[in-house]
Amino acid sequence: MTPLEMIMLLHGFLATLVLMAAALIAGVLLFVKDLSEKDVKIMKLVSLGTVFLVFLLDMTGAYGYIPYRLPAPSAKADIVATAPWAHEVFFESMEYVSLFGPIVAAVIAYIVWHYGAGIVKDSAIKRALLVLLALATLLGLVLVGAGVIPTRIASVR
Ligand code: HEM
Repeated sequence: MTPLEMIMLLHGFLATLVLMAAALIAGVLLFVKDLSEKDVKIMKLVSLGTVFLVFLLDMTGAYGYIPYRLPAPSAKADIVATAPWAHEVFFESMEYVSLFGPIVAAVIAYIVWHYGAGIVKDSAIKRALLVLLALATLLGLVLVGAGVIPTRIASVR
């Protein structure tokens, strides 16, 4: 396995980890009624760690994007020739829309850090966070599809 393949494997793995982190935070908001000081510390670490993971997800993607964009013979040339929709629609969406990822993750982390135990006590904050998490998760799932489809047609190498 080449270093590039390893980095792109990590890219897909990071996408899974980020979705798991979002599910964890949403689970706490939905099912936990009170947070101790220690719980709040864990939530702060999880939310801040997720910002870092989303950033790394975009960085590993950008790294893979360099060989992906190289002139023929390249992965992109394969994709454009065999399935233009996979490149023009799916890949291009992942490339640009995912740049919102670190911003959304940072907003979620800011709310968790600012409100602490209030995220489960204050219903308005809880609702706002849940809506943000639901939108981010939906977007994440679409982006995962947008990444997997071109990768399965022509992987970078
Ligand atoms: C929220 C952000 C993102 C998510 C959830 C995401 C998700 C994915 C997934 C699931 C794959 C398929 C991995 C596999 O099947 O092994 C993939 C592939 C890829 N992604 Fe992303 N991605 C994101 C951001 C980006 C960004 C910002 C770029 C670059 C500008 C990028 C570039 C790539 C490239 C080049 C591949 C193809 C790798 C290959 O062909 O082996 N991704 N992405």
